[in-house]
Amino acid sequence: MHAFDPGYAHAPYAALVGDYPGPETYPPREFRVEWGPIFHRGRLDGSARVLVIGQDPAGHEAITRRILVGTAGRRFQGFLHRLGIDTSYVLINTYLYSVYGQQAGNAHAKDRDIARYRHRWLDTLVTHNEIEAVISLGGLANTCFHTWRSDPHSAPYDGAYAHILHPTFPDSAAASGTDFKAAMRRLTTNWNSALTALSADVTPDVQRPLDLYGEALTSSDLAVIPEADLPAGLPSWMRSDEPWAARKGANSQEKRATIEVRIPEDERPF
Ligand code: URA
Repeated sequence: MHAFDPGYAHAPYAALVGDYPGPETYPPREFRVEWGPIFHRGRLDGSARVLVIGQDPAGHEAITRRILVGTAGRRFQGFLHRLGIDTSYVLINTYLYSVYGQQAGNAHAKDRDIARYRHRWLDTLVTHNEIEAVISLGGLANTCFHTWRSDPHSAPYDGAYAHILHPTFPDSAAASGTDFKAAMRRLTTNWNSALTALSADVTPDVQRPLDLYGEALTSSDLAVIPEADLPAGLPSWMRSDEPWAARKGANSQEKRATIEVRIPEDERPF
């Protein structure tokens, strides 16, 4: 038998996904609305104890229709594993659509129309699960959490909260001139502090001794995305170690319109 994510057919999620905001709320010059909204990954059956807020979907997510399945997702799945959380999580992003251009993410961090729909998701998730901890990945997700908590209409939540560096922090820091090794050390130090704090608040699915990160994430820190998190029938290489989706194009328009999907060589039948 193959496990799969049954999707959004039941209440309260059916109504939520049926009513998603489009280009009137997410300006197409700043968000890749043409790839459609990508809502979540993880449990929608009331069993989530950890609620995670990511940033925005990228190429892999546009294909699988679930968030945080590429390198960022696989790195963070390893963090959940160290916390003893193998299944009892649910992840949403700050933005339903992929951010286009560097400034757009920051420019819309406090956008009230974008927040309104996102708050419906957050309210629904804390109302229909017994969430013990919320974890935000990166600065925009942190703003998202605090915007939600400071809205007097938000559902009550008094569990733990951890704001951690985004899983791709070392890569973006290196791209803007920081030493990659130093950035990795900052990430693992930051994640280790959060793991230590959260392990006091989160009931694990599987009790494991707290095993902290070393100075850098290695390939063994990339956990596999569980089959149960993706829609039925997606091939296993979509959860594999290697990247398999990339935006390609000779100019910015073509690149925005194209995601090249290639089966990793060692995953091909022959
Ligand atoms: N993919 C996502 O869905 N979210 C992130 O924050 C990063 C990559």
